[in-house]
Amino acid sequence: MSHYFTNDNVKSNKQKINVIIKDTKLSFITDNGIFSKKGLDFGTRTLLENIDLQNIKGDVLDFGCGYGPIGIYLKKTTNASIDMIDINKRAINLAKENARLNNVNVNIFESNIYENVTKKYDFIITNPPIRVGKKILYTILFEAQNYLKENGELWLVINKNGGAKTVLSDLQKYYDVTVIKKNKGFFIICAKNR
Ligand SMILES: C[S@@+](CC[C@H](N)C(=O)[O-])C[C@H]1O[C@@H](n2cnc3c(N)ncnc32)[C@H](O)[C@@H]1O
Repeated sequence: MSHYFTNDNVKSNKQKINVIIKDTKLSFITDNGIFSKKGLDFGTRTLLENIDLQNIKGDVLDFGCGYGPIGIYLKKTTNASIDMIDINKRAINLAKENARLNNVNVNIFESNIYENVTKKYDFIITNPPIRVGKKILYTILFEAQNYLKENGELWLVINKNGGAKTVLSDLQKYYDVTVIKKNKGFFIICAKNR
């Protein structure tokens, strides 16, 4: 069975979507074989609408960038330096195309989890993959500590059906955690590196 994060070989059928996040207008090319190809995911929207942009500075990693909405929006609205990674080659190519389409300068590269990540960040921001299973999800969430600067923050969105309550209590063992927002089962979580 193929998943959205491995099926680079499904037939391409690109489409353009227009998205407004707060007052920022963006356009994205999406395609078969990537996450939320029909429009901005509600969880991603909730995450982006609840980040205080004035705090976003320095180095930011968009983990699991997909077609690029998180990193591209943050580059449009802040002065941060943005890296974006994904395991899915098609997502990486689309994110690059979308960075050009929206005239932003971001650094996008393929990486399986943190395999190709070499620096530390002020923020790691993610709508993490859930269907990969708990082991990989927890590797993403807890290895993030090695890629965050001191006091760096991991921001994530997770749905209660994706295990938000368990993830929240496990994050609290290793990070200083704040629940920023709960909306329709989606939790926006800020986990600060100790
Ligand atoms: C829930 S989607 C979010 C995509 C995009 N950020 C958005 O909000 O629309 C999670 C992303 O994580 C990527 N992913 C899955 N496993 C990964 C891994 N091992 N390493 C890096 N990225 C991975 C998927 O390809 C997918 O694009």
